[in-house]
Amino acid sequence: MKVLFVDACPRREESRTLALARHFVSQLRALQPELSLTVHCLPEMGLTGIDRDTLQRKEALCDARCWSDPLVRAGRDLSVADAAVIAAPYWDLMFPSILKVWIEHIWVRNLTFVYRNDKPVGLLRAKYAVFLTTAGSRLQGHDWGTLYLEDVLKTLGVPRFYRIAAEGLDLEGADPGALLGKAMAEAEALASALCIEGS
Ligand SMILES: Cc1cc2nc3c(=O)[nH]c(=O)nc-3n(C[C@H](O)[C@H](O)[C@H](O)COP(=O)(O)O)c2cc1C
Repeated sequence: MKVLFVDACPRREESRTLALARHFVSQLRALQPELSLTVHCLPEMGLTGIDRDTLQRKEALCDARCWSDPLVRAGRDLSVADAAVIAAPYWDLMFPSILKVWIEHIWVRNLTFVYRNDKPVGLLRAKYAVFLTTAGSRLQGHDWGTLYLEDVLKTLGVPRFYRIAAEGLDLEGADPGALLGKAMAEAEALASALCIEGS
């Protein structure tokens, strides 16, 4: 079982989202000792948005099916994963831009998707993706980042998408520790459920 852990938490060791996601991953590892983990730490990976020259180079790599180039590393590592775990906080009604940059990098034609009848068809083999997030407020429907991420991953072929969140951490009178603890318990339950069903 290969798991790709995509860490898009800019505040690094101060990040509560990262703590939540690490807790989920540690539960998965405890339940599945044979699990192999690849970590993509986006703030340190040097990914940049796709500009014109990079796009031309990426398309040429896709035509040649040349998957050894670092430009397609994000897509390559995602394409061999059995599951993806993605961590990002809620920023500016969405998620940090580095996660959008990662999304630009995982659309790799002939590797993560192909066009059939003018439509993208996903080639990913991952059975599920888990998105872990925290937010200062309660989102109450303003969660386009999650919807977008789910749509991207489903289009690329990942059939199941789960979200674990701690919301309202920065509200006056909130108990962030308790809210985070509740989300961690949900993360543990999800890890157990995924292991029981053999995912
Ligand atoms: C740049 C920035 C933008 C934020 N934007 C929002 C926002 O739009 N809505 C919200 O409820 N909280 C917002 N927050 C608060 C974070 O969602 C919240 O503090 C979260 O727990 C931070 O996660 P972290 O501890 O993993 O960094 C923002 C925080 C930062 C630093």
